[in-house]
Amino acid sequence: MAENLNLDVSEAQIAVHWQEEQVFPPSAQFIAQANMTDPRIFERFSEDKFPECYKEYADLLTWYRYWHTTLDASDPPFWKWFLGAEINASYNCVDRHLDKYKNKAALIWVPEPEDEPHVTLTYQELYVRVNEVAALLRDFAGLKAGDRVTLHLPMVLELPITMLACARLGVIHSVVFGGFSAKACGERIADSGSEVLVTMDGYYRGGKLLEHKAKSDGAIEVAAKEGQTVDKVLIWRRYRGKYVSQAPIVEGRDYFVDDVLRDYVGERVDPVPMPAEAPLFLMYTSGTTGSPKGCQHSTGGYMAYVAGTSKYVQDIQPDDVYWCMADIGWITGHSYIVYGPLSLAATSVMYEGVPTCPDAGRAWRIAEQLSVDIFHTAPTTIRMLRKADPDGPSRYDYQFKHMTTVGEPIEPEVWRWYYYVVGKGKAAIVDTWWQTETGGFLCSTMPAIHPMKPGSTGPAVPGIYPVIYDEDGNEVERGHGRAGNICIRNPWPGAFQTVWGDRDRYVSTYYAKYCKDRNSTDWRDWPYFTGDAAMEAADGYYRILGRVDDVINVAGHRLGTKEIESACLDVPEVAEAAVVPLADPIKGRVPDVYVSLQPDCDPTQVRAAVVRSIEISIGKIARPKHVYVVPDMPKTRSGKIMRRVLAAISNGRDIGDVTTLANPSVVSEIRDMVQG
Ligand code: WT7
Repeated sequence: MAENLNLDVSEAQIAVHWQEEQVFPPSAQFIAQANMTDPRIFERFSEDKFPECYKEYADLLTWYRYWHTTLDASDPPFWKWFLGAEINASYNCVDRHLDKYKNKAALIWVPEPEDEPHVTLTYQELYVRVNEVAALLRDFAGLKAGDRVTLHLPMVLELPITMLACARLGVIHSVVFGGFSAKACGERIADSGSEVLVTMDGYYRGGKLLEHKAKSDGAIEVAAKEGQTVDKVLIWRRYRGKYVSQAPIVEGRDYFVDDVLRDYVGERVDPVPMPAEAPLFLMYTSGTTGSPKGCQHSTGGYMAYVAGTSKYVQDIQPDDVYWCMADIGWITGHSYIVYGPLSLAATSVMYEGVPTCPDAGRAWRIAEQLSVDIFHTAPTTIRMLRKADPDGPSRYDYQFKHMTTVGEPIEPEVWRWYYYVVGKGKAAIVDTWWQTETGGFLCSTMPAIHPMKPGSTGPAVPGIYPVIYDEDGNEVERGHGRAGNICIRNPWPGAFQTVWGDRDRYVSTYYAKYCKDRNSTDWRDWPYFTGDAAMEAADGYYRILGRVDDVINVAGHRLGTKEIESACLDVPEVAEAAVVPLADPIKGRVPDVYVSLQPDCDPTQVRAAVVRSIEISIGKIARPKHVYVVPDMPKTRSGKIMRRVLAAISNGRDIGDVTTLANPSVVSEIRDMVQG
């Protein structure tokens, strides 16, 4: 970790602004109704009860066959949970609720245009639609257990329906965030080896009906270049029977799902009992180097973990109306819109668009109309809504009992607005810290057991044993508030199984750094490296300080520096590119781009070309705040670009000693250009 970019940014900021905070106890009213009020859960999940303690979560599910081994750790770090068991995720989220809850709302979909009606699917209706789509996927698309299929879909009901239809068959879904570009989608199709792509014609976002189908054509081209052929494109239509896209339909390859479904009306498909260790889905995420990694999640362990944490940390009960504003295209949506809540027979709300459309009251109107009582969102959204209308929530008649913040550290001041204004001083807040790789929460307060502390995620959740190491692998003494690399000492059922198709990368990225003995088959020798810096306060609460690698957390989502840099280098004039995180009052971090040009190039068009290239490669989410064309990059004598120096310039921080650089004079030139 030569440069420790973000660690610099966060630690400095936090040390200055964030004092130890006053704590807030949960209300008696919340405690009185909560799923988990007994602190002895931590005894039941204590280290000497590991791994058998996780039976408590697994017992929330319905299994075809129980396991003979709770945890097989014989091939570290490839942990295997609930070995010998069989289960189906679709059955657990749908079929098993029919007896008691068939007429209860499973999903409520809120379209972005406010004059379009909400669509409610009861568990019975969800059952019918999942079965029909599963029949289509099996008999029309030829998919079977173990095949991969890419879903490039926006926030529409067809997304969870298709996911659950895949899960019913044991087909591994790979959902690509709808906002990602054709190129990003194509790369993920190729990496996952998907022969089928499920997409949509268009969807509403920010008041506009966006073209979406056109991206599939580009994606398929990109995948083909990487040697992956897509035979079938299944296109959901935003309006049944009406195609809202301009993109052509390719004969023999592209099909409208609503048309094809006519042949499958009334079909039922038995859920396929899957081994607990069978992959349920892939979720791609960015890393320090190379292409995005396909995090492979299991069926049994993952489902047990998201059911357990949804029940006890999210406090979801069947009569709650639960609304998580994340996109299902990210892990939060998989675990805490779809699989966790539905496994508990909750009513889960999905919103198509942005929370400020048509105005900043939209989210609170939805909460009022649907009587939402559990609310889940990210600091970036909280900051945005606060800025847009700081008194908004008071004008709406809703009351949350529970709220979540996730994705990045939340400033205590923003936390207090969330608590007093959004939660009206009555809701319990959980600040859940976790990652795409971890499947579910790692740290959070238990909402009816622990007090809340603004800006701190809280202690580890039951069954998770964190440790903070310094760079040399020494344990940082507990509770002393010293920062280091936070790791998890033990395996847990929600953890991903591997990087799809790249076992070595799984080991080297997540387990090599602090492995005590490569030959050991004792899990205690294989701590999981999260890539986050953190400190533990005397009360055992963790404060997450940000990434220690070259990953930029934009609005709670990880973007790899290298991915953005390589998009810059696609512009022919660009000779070198460096991307650094710039602190942003709403999004937390945004990319700032520095490029140097090939000799004798005309710089006029370069900035726009760089922005375009980044949008084409990744999507608008990665759009940089600035593109600076610099005469040369600050470099070490060995030629390494000093991103740390550029990050300091972007953020107006002290640059430190640069006299040892190969070209110190360029630093002041760049600083004058950026800071004026
Ligand atoms: C990274 C994971 C987990 C779902 C959303 C993001 C940061 C996540 C918190 C939090 C401080 C947080 C970490 C982590 N992060 N939650 N509550 N407090 N930081 O998933 O894209 O895999 O990103 O997000 O840096 O490593 P992701």
